[in-house]
Amino acid sequence: MARILITGGAGYVGSHCAKELAASGHESIVFDNLLFGHRDLVRWGNLIEGDIRDAAALSALFATHPIDAVMHFAALAYAGESVQAPDRYYDVNVNGTRVLLEAMVRACVPVIVFFLRAVRPPPCRKSSIRRALLGHCDRRRAR
Ligand SMILES: NC(=O)c1ccc[n+]([C@@H]2O[C@H](COP(=O)([O-])OP(=O)(O)OC[C@H]3O[C@@H](n4cnc5c(N)ncnc54)[C@H](O)[C@@H]3O)[C@@H](O)[C@H]2O)c1
Repeated sequence: MARILITGGAGYVGSHCAKELAASGHESIVFDNLLFGHRDLVRWGNLIEGDIRDAAALSALFATHPIDAVMHFAALAYAGESVQAPDRYYDVNVNGTRVLLEAMVRACVPVIVFFLRAVRPPPCRKSSIRRALLGHCDRRRAR
């Protein structure tokens, strides 16, 4: 039996994953900030409320719960909204994943399963997305 940390385990994909892990005899711990997740969907393991961008919370979790692997589903996943708020999506999906990976390295957790959907925008929106991304890069460079 393995003990798996499921980030975003209170969401759609993560909760199904927890169910399958339990059916296969594995233990899961869900780490989710419940932004879009539902407490009621966490039925196959304990819920620890927290944000993947919170390095201290992840370190505390790894220090108190020996984890064999991480399945990473904590993300903002709405394609339309991601175009409206690219900075917010970058912060959770890219920066949050970096914080999680660094915490895993510090705690010597060896395995991550990362589930990501990439959405290709329709041609008519390309230039606005490009402008949004370039604006984001310029703002980061200016910091
Ligand atoms: N649903 C699909 O059909 C599908 C298909 C392919 C890929 N994916 C990918 O799977 C992942 C999960 O998708 P989903 O449909 O389950 O989304 P979802 O919104 O149902 O689940 C995401 C979970 O992450 C949590 N979360 C968000 N930000 C967080 C943060 N900063 N810290 C901790 N928890 C946070 C939310 O509260 C939510 O419970 C996404 O990366 C998505 O792109 C989903």
